[in-house]
Amino acid sequence: MSAGPAAEARPEARPEARPELAGLAAYSSVAPGPVPVRVRASSNEAPGGLVGPVLEAALAAVAGGSRYPLIGGAELASALATSLGVAEASVAVADGALPLLDRVLMAYVRPGDEVVMAWRSYEAYPLSVQIAGGRSVQVPLTESGVHDLAAMAAAVGPSTRMVIVCNPNNPTGTVVAWPDLVDFVDALPRDVLVVLDEAYTEYDDRARPDAASLAALVARGNVIVLRTFSKAHGLAGLRAGYLVAAPAVAATVRSVLPPFPVSSVAVAAARASLEHPSVLGDRVAATCEERSRVVALLAARGLAGPTSYANFVWLPLGERSLEFAELCREHGLLVRPFAGEGVRITVGEPDLRAVLAEVLAAWG
Ligand SMILES: Cc1ncc(COP(=O)(O)O)c(C=O)c1O
Repeated sequence: MSAGPAAEARPEARPEARPELAGLAAYSSVAPGPVPVRVRASSNEAPGGLVGPVLEAALAAVAGGSRYPLIGGAELASALATSLGVAEASVAVADGALPLLDRVLMAYVRPGDEVVMAWRSYEAYPLSVQIAGGRSVQVPLTESGVHDLAAMAAAVGPSTRMVIVCNPNNPTGTVVAWPDLVDFVDALPRDVLVVLDEAYTEYDDRARPDAASLAALVARGNVIVLRTFSKAHGLAGLRAGYLVAAPAVAATVRSVLPPFPVSSVAVAAARASLEHPSVLGDRVAATCEERSRVVALLAARGLAGPTSYANFVWLPLGERSLEFAELCREHGLLVRPFAGEGVRITVGEPDLRAVLAEVLAAWG
């Protein structure tokens, strides 16, 4: 086989990535230090491994792993539709909430389009927007770490294609009230897509909107509710997430997903988790109780952040954030620092408080 004439004209040429990718930051993870890790509290995972019927379903699915799952993760989409009280056509599933967000961006964001988001929020958002060729518009959180919905609405301009609301917000754990959210959505132009990232919603122990309110919100046609099995369902390593949207929006996202977007093992485990809500309920209740105890432990040492409605707490330590995280690491505790801003500590691991107490005793 011989190359065409273009090859001869450009002997030194190399494949070039899209220019939008220049300077793309890496999705960071917290590396263990020289001290063996005793408690991992840096990634907002659920404690422990798979249990009971969820473990059994996953193991049984492994044996059948030589077969493709149904196209589009159909068994999981249909189980979700039943459990959420929405039409199956309103659901799209994939191997996590983040891969779904990437496909939403792929489907809706054109080069140079703006995506408005609160900041600080989930660190993957600006990376995903950049990969999609869009531009992030970051609107500072209020002093108390809450989305400033008025400022976000004011930041929406002619080039805005999408707004992301992270509720509860990672890393501050704060929430916006449902009526405020509905007013916010109503005030936006109908051609602006609102992605409501509810990755931690199960830990939000306020009165939650019912299925009808969720259905009414997405029926507006410009709202996508994004959720995951990685957090409260405890399936981060298996990879499964979903979105709920108006049927036309969900169909658009499904059209840009790979044909088999979730593994058969993840489908089986996620379905089992939906079918056995007490497994999820017990885990969430235990985590919320533990969250109160961790908050009390920190408060006794004079450390406090905003009220958290997620499986982590936020300590706005400002310039001392890296110092605190390093002290944690020296005690075998992995937490997630954001330089100059604060430290996020995942709650749920039974040994967390014991190690944290050691850290706090050494914290000057
Ligand atoms: C707010 C938020 N959204 C989405 C994700 C990603 O979830 P998944 O594991 O389903 O891709 C995370 C993970 O940390 C998150 O914090």
